[in-house]
Amino acid sequence: MTPGVTRIGDPGYPCATTPPDPLSHHGDRDVVPGMLDFAVNVRGTTPEWLRDVLRARVDDLSTYPSPADEQAAVAAIAGAHGRDESEIAVLSGAAEGFALAAALRPRHAVVIAPSFTEPERVLRAAGVRVTRVVLPPPWHLAGAAIPDDADLLVVGNPTNPTSVLHPADALVALCRPGRVVLVDEAFADVTLAEVGGELVDEPQSVAGRRLPGLVVLRSVTKTFAVPGLRAGYLVGDPDVVARMVVARPHWPVGTLQLAAVQAALGPTGRDHARTQARAVRDERTAMCRMLTDAGVTVCGDPQASFVLVHDAEAMWRREHLADAGVAVRRCDTFPGLDAEHLRLAVRGSEDVAMLLRAWPTV
Ligand SMILES: Cc1ncc(COP(=O)(O)O)c(C=O)c1O
Repeated sequence: MTPGVTRIGDPGYPCATTPPDPLSHHGDRDVVPGMLDFAVNVRGTTPEWLRDVLRARVDDLSTYPSPADEQAAVAAIAGAHGRDESEIAVLSGAAEGFALAAALRPRHAVVIAPSFTEPERVLRAAGVRVTRVVLPPPWHLAGAAIPDDADLLVVGNPTNPTSVLHPADALVALCRPGRVVLVDEAFADVTLAEVGGELVDEPQSVAGRRLPGLVVLRSVTKTFAVPGLRAGYLVGDPDVVARMVVARPHWPVGTLQLAAVQAALGPTGRDHARTQARAVRDERTAMCRMLTDAGVTVCGDPQASFVLVHDAEAMWRREHLADAGVAVRRCDTFPGLDAEHLRLAVRGSEDVAMLLRAWPTV
């Protein structure tokens, strides 16, 4: 028992039982300050160079965000992905993109599950008809029965929480005339592949592909450790981008968000992302080995900054880990998963050793 830690069941520990609205449950609700955090997929703390960028702009908060700041952020994104500026919108976090998708007024949206639940939640809240296509383990797209009349399709790549990385070609194959395919690449910047002995960054990203109806959401939150800032962007078919943003308020994102996006997509930020991708890969390899050696079942071939584990006693174990001051992500709130899975953020070996020391045996 860690003194001072709020435990499951305490008033300060949210969602001890099944949350009333499972689609609204996110990893941050599984953590309270002081816990060893395996529940939230944010990489450490905000890097010092990015704090400097943000600090340098605080005095500018006495004026409205400027067109020059927006243009600089858009130009950085365009440069990073080889896109035109008309194909880009800066967002208040990738999550904003799901809400903006409702502006497309889809007649029939399809969400691929198990996956991040926000798209389904916000589309339903906007009155959109939503069908869930639940993939069976190992959660690959091949053979997915996607209704022909789906005019909006949302899919995560890599997918949270399964850590599956779909081939880019499988995503492109989902495109149809009259359909918008919205690919959530919130974690794509930490994906890597080894090809002929060389490491290839973002091997399955479609952010650089120009196809009618294809749009991609990207997040600055995770890799740059700024969840409190709310920064991300949308890139893709310019007609779709324009339709999604048409009803946004003036000044949809603030000066600090624009500065962070510009920095994250600039040379320092891109180096940072590349370094994080390599760290994630190394940490994940070591973590999977440690988990497996300890008898914990890692699902599939994880490719993101989190791993899914199968555990028949997942809910019981989560409560006991919380009592020991360790937060893990419940997975019973993900449609298509159940109370026999947990999601663990990729962490360094010292933290994983602490997790395993706290791991209760039945
Ligand atoms: C798969 C996925 N997409 C999008 C988001 C939202 O990202 P952001 O914080 O940039 O809004 C999250 C946040 O947890 C996520 O897990």
